[in-house]
Amino acid sequence: AAPSMVDSKTRPGEKKGFVEEMRFAAMRLHTRDQAPKQGQKEAPEQPAEQPLRQWQPTREGYLRFLVESKEVYNTLESIVTDAQHSDYARFQSTGLERSAALAEDIAWMQQEYALPATEPGDDGPGLAYSSLLRELAEKDPPAFLCHFYNIYFAHTAGGRMIGTKVAQMILDSKQLNFYKYDGDYKPMLDGVRQALNDVAEGWTREQKDHCLDETMMSFRYSNGLLQCIAQ
Ligand code: HEM
Repeated sequence: AAPSMVDSKTRPGEKKGFVEEMRFAAMRLHTRDQAPKQGQKEAPEQPAEQPLRQWQPTREGYLRFLVESKEVYNTLESIVTDAQHSDYARFQSTGLERSAALAEDIAWMQQEYALPATEPGDDGPGLAYSSLLRELAEKDPPAFLCHFYNIYFAHTAGGRMIGTKVAQMILDSKQLNFYKYDGDYKPMLDGVRQALNDVAEGWTREQKDHCLDETMMSFRYSNGLLQCIAQ
């Protein structure tokens, strides 16, 4: 196995539970510009890692981002519905599901701005991410749950900042359903945190480290999606 990115004896966040370790692993992969207090990464590598103020969003690109993202959320949501591994059943109906909201936003953007209907691209980031998620969901639950955590939690943090900023730039400040939850999302996050902590209790330290190590892949694929907007 590849060496773990966290090799000290006590892992950062460990005392608060495994999700706090996942959060630490994620925060250090932000650039300083994205999360000034905790981000450690100096130089952006992908366009989506450039400072938000340098993004040049277009309506077409944003619509593509929504379409590609919907593919990913559809996949995540069908994986937990099927619950091939019984642990996944705990992640059904969390309230954080995004596919239905995305379907509405996509239809709205097409109509409002007279944009053509689009499908996820054959070589696009949505299908690429979906196939990785399906494979991990089957063979590697700790890695799959790393992606699950990062996708849903990132969306309530940086995702919402992006949504607000981009809406100001190109959607006349219209807030999309993608960024709205049915009620306060904080208790929803708490529920998922609890479920993740419970599931991780059944993992060996090696499986936990393997889950943390997957964080980098999660950033790579999510940045691939964000690239549709950043240009
Ligand atoms: C949290 C910004 C991309 C995963 C955060 C926070 C900010 C932020 C400001 C809150 C920090 C805090 O609570 O102190 C951004 C920006 C991004 C971006 C501006 C891109 C332009 C990503 C990506 C991922 C990610 C690509 C992973 C796929 C997370 C996670 C959290 C977080 C897991 C913790 C959320 C929580 O604990 O509730 N991000 N982020 N972020 N971000 Fe990002």
